[in-house]
Amino acid sequence: MPKPKVYVTRKLPERGLKIIKESFDAEVWPEYSPPPKEVIIKKVRDVDALASLLSDKIDAEVFDAAPRLKIVAQMAVGFDNIDVKEATRRGICVTNTPGVLTETTADFAWTLLMAVARRVVEADKYVHNGKWKVGWHPSMLLGRDVYGATIGVVGAGRIGSAVARRARGFNMRIIYYDVVARPELEKEIGAKRVDLETLLSESDFVSVHVPLIKSTYHLINAEKLKLMKKTAYIINNSRGPVVDEKALYKALTEGWIAGAALDVFEQEPTPADNPLLTLDNVVVAPHISSSSHETRSRMAEMVAENLVAFFEGRIPPNLVNREVLKL
Ligand code: GLV
Repeated sequence: MPKPKVYVTRKLPERGLKIIKESFDAEVWPEYSPPPKEVIIKKVRDVDALASLLSDKIDAEVFDAAPRLKIVAQMAVGFDNIDVKEATRRGICVTNTPGVLTETTADFAWTLLMAVARRVVEADKYVHNGKWKVGWHPSMLLGRDVYGATIGVVGAGRIGSAVARRARGFNMRIIYYDVVARPELEKEIGAKRVDLETLLSESDFVSVHVPLIKSTYHLINAEKLKLMKKTAYIINNSRGPVVDEKALYKALTEGWIAGAALDVFEQEPTPADNPLLTLDNVVVAPHISSSSHETRSRMAEMVAENLVAFFEGRIPPNLVNREVLKL
């Protein structure tokens, strides 16, 4: 029996790639940048599986070109880049890599939070650029206290909950907004569920952790940003389109809020002329929240495990469209 054919859209971390290469007839897109859509469309023509990244748009056009495709194994927890409904309709399994990146991503939300609250990036540039001419000044680079403040977690799933748990160490008041109640979290750390409006108006730090779906697109818009305290910060390491960037720019330049820290953008890479990048009270990163050696290796390994399970006739451990099994 020939090995199943897999197209891998980027050079994945070695631990996962090794398993994929050993178990399948694998072809890997060799470049650092993503393959253009035409390439994906061409490559999927005779493959049984696709290993994708969140920057690959996997939609009906791709599925139409892939008569043999049976599984899309994505190396990410989010899968808004994949038209799952279309996949399910065609009997194609979709898998992701949840759980393993939860703590790493929560760590990075906190990295962003601390950086923007205490102006770490500005301070670093200040010293690096030779601007530090006075040894100590009572009002040099004043930030805001994190300890004892109120954190509002928007979306208390795996990652949001992990962010909330860390807030206990800073003796914070913890509130959350979610479409479902999280009684375990309330019991464990005393988090209180509130509506989004209350969360925005009472939080010193708003940390966003919802998936990108129709109802969360521009969830944080001008109207919502206006509810926030002038001294408050917003942190987003979920998906860029959850926050309306134009409204955020207005909020930051007109003083509705104190600052923002973003690991994700409406368009990625964000254009170099994104006006948000001109602001000192905006801390940015290039979508790296899960980017630790350990986690990215494990994510790649999970991609391989999902593929192997599928082709051994088992249910892939991280199947996101279970309905596909009923077809
Ligand atoms: C990263 O953004 C992921 O969804 O894993």
